[in-house]
Parts: sequence; C-alpha cells; structure tokens
Amino acid sequence: MAVSLQAAGAFAELPEPTDLVDQQHCMFCHTSDAPFLAPSFHQIAEHYRDTPNASTMLEDKLRHGGKAHWGDMAMPLPEDRGGPLSAGDARTLVRWVLSQ
Ligand code: HEC
Repeated sequence: MAVSLQAAGAFAELPEPTDLVDQQHCMFCHTSDAPFLAPSFHQIAEHYRDTPNASTMLEDKLRHGGKAHWGDMAMPLPEDRGGPLSAGDARTLVRWVLSQ
C-alpha cells in the first residue's frame, strides 16, 4: 500500500515550468506526447522510468550536452537554445519531463 501510494505521487505530472520552457525553446523540437524532431517527453519519461540516477544524468546533459541516446542528432547546448541554464533550472526541467 505504502509503495503504490509513493509510486502514484512520483509519477503525477508536474505543472509545466512555462517561462523556462519558452526561454529554452524546448517545444521547438519536443512535444509532450508525439515524437517530432526529437523524442516526446512522454517517451523520455517512459524510457528512464526504471533508471536510477537518470535525472542527474539528464540535468548534466541539458546543461553541458552529451552524446545522443535516441538518434544521430544531439540536443543543442543551452547557449544555442536561448541562454545559460542553472543547475536548479535544469533540475526543474528534468523533473517536469520525467513526470510526464
Ligand atoms: C533544437 C531541438 C531541441 C531543443 C530546442 C530541445 N531539445 Fe531535447 N532533444 C532534442 C533531440 C534531437 C534529442 C535526442 C538526442 C539524443 O538522442 O540524446 C533530445 C533529447 C532530450 C532528452 C533526453 C536526453 C537523453 O539523453 O535521453 C531530454 C530530457 C530533453 N531532450 C529535454 C529537453 C528540454 C527540457 C529542452 C528545453 C530546455 C529541450 N530538450 C530542448 C532536441 C531538442
């Protein structure tokens, strides 16, 4: 019982951090549920659901880049998306993506 309640809480969708999403143009390439230029946020959340420390890896990737996991096209760096991204903001974005 305790476990299932916890799980429900962890997967409840968080509100969109709209200012950050706009500033970093996330929706230019992503949508929440249909793969477009990039995997959908729903696919990404599914993919990492059982991966421990996925959020740490993704926060780092959002801020500093890294090799592509989904195809040939890697994500542009924050500087090319609209400006530098702080650790706290990266965390907010990743938690939101993984909640979808
Ligand atoms: C210019 C297009 C573009 C923009 C803008 C963009 N992305 Fe992406 N994103 C991609 C592509 C392409 C991939 C797949 C890259 C890969 O295989 O790692 C991706 C992958 C991801 C992943 C999964 C990374 C992995 O290693 O599995 C996350 C999380 C993500 N994006 C979040 C975001 C967020 C949050 C924003 C806004 C801050 C954003 N993206 C903006 C194109 C974009």
